[in-house]
Amino acid sequence: MDKNLKKKIVNLSNLIGTKDQNLGKKILKIQFNNKNIKEIVFLVFKILNILKKTYKFNDKDVASSYVSFCRETITEQYYLKKNTTYRAIKEKINNLDFYSSKNKMRKYLVGLLLTQIFWSHHTKILTWYLKNLLKRNKIKNYLEIGAGHGLLSLLLQKKEKTDGMIVDVSHSAINSLKKIFNKLKVNKRILFKKKDFLKFKSDKKFDFIIMGEVIEHVKNPTKFLTKSKKLLNQKGSIFLTTCANCAQHDHLFHFKDVNHIRKIIKNSGLRILKDYFVPSENISKSRWKKEKIAISYCAFVDNEKR
Ligand SMILES: C[S@@+](CC[C@H](N)C(=O)[O-])C[C@H]1O[C@@H](n2cnc3c(N)ncnc32)[C@H](O)[C@@H]1O
Repeated sequence: MDKNLKKKIVNLSNLIGTKDQNLGKKILKIQFNNKNIKEIVFLVFKILNILKKTYKFNDKDVASSYVSFCRETITEQYYLKKNTTYRAIKEKINNLDFYSSKNKMRKYLVGLLLTQIFWSHHTKILTWYLKNLLKRNKIKNYLEIGAGHGLLSLLLQKKEKTDGMIVDVSHSAINSLKKIFNKLKVNKRILFKKKDFLKFKSDKKFDFIIMGEVIEHVKNPTKFLTKSKKLLNQKGSIFLTTCANCAQHDHLFHFKDVNHIRKIIKNSGLRILKDYFVPSENISKSRWKKEKIAISYCAFVDNEKR
C-alpha cells in the first residue's frame, strides 16, 4: 500500500477512534494487501477528496459521517431483531424525503463511501465485481441506477472507458457525481439524470446496467428489476448488489435470505449467471438467519428470454 494512503487511513481511523474507539480499532486491523483492494481504496480516497472539497468537509466531518452511518446501522439492526422487519416498512417512512435533503445526503454519501473499504463484506463484493467484470460481453454503453457516490461506475471506467447514463433520485447525489466525474476526467459521454428510476424514460437500450444497493430501497423490487430488464440490449447484462436482513433507515424492502433475493430476480424474468454472497459477521452459516445477520449479495444477471 502506498505510504501516503496508509497514513491517510491511519489518520482517519484515529479520528474515528476519538468518536468511537471500537470503530477506529477495527479499521486499523484491516489488511489492504490485494491488488484489487488497493485499486478500490485508491479510488475511494480520490472520490472522498472531491466530496470533501464540494461539501466543505474537514477530516472531522468525514469521521463523524462514518461513525453516524455505523451507529445508525446498529440501531436499525437492533430494531430488526426486535420487530422482525425494518423500521421504514413498519412505520411507513418515505425515503424520498431523505434523498432530497442536501445536508443528510452529504453525510450519508461520505459514510456509505467509507463502508466500501472499512466493511469487509462490502469490499469483498467490490473485489468480486472487479474480478468478474467484462468476462462476458463488450460494453459500449451502460446505465447506472442509484449510483450514489459513483464507485461502481468509476471502477467500470477504469477497466473500459465507456459512454453511459447515470440516474439517481437524489439531486445531491447527481450534483456530486457530476463533480466527481468531471474532476476524475472521465472523458466519456455520461448523461446524468435526477429521476426516480420508475419514472425514467429512455429510447436507448444498454449493454450493461449497474444497480448497487438500490432494490432494497424501493417498495417493489420486482417492478424495478422488470423495468431494468426492458432496457437491456439483446446480449446485455446487469450487475446488481443488494442485501438480506440488512436494516437501514431507508430500506423499504426486506429480503429475508439469499434464496428470497434469487426468487425475486427470477420472478422478474431475469436469469442469474453468477452470484456471490458474504455475511457481515464472521459466524457460521447456521446462525445467519436465526440471528438476522446482514448478508451482502451480488449477481450478474441477464434476460432469460434472449
Ligand atoms: C445505498 S445508495 C447506493 C449507492 C451505490 N450504488 C453503492 O452501491 O454503494 C442508494 C442510492 O439509490 C438512490 N435511489 C434510491 N431510490 C431510487 C429510485 N427510485 N430511483 C433512482 N435512484 C434511487 C439513492 O438516491 C442513493 O443514491
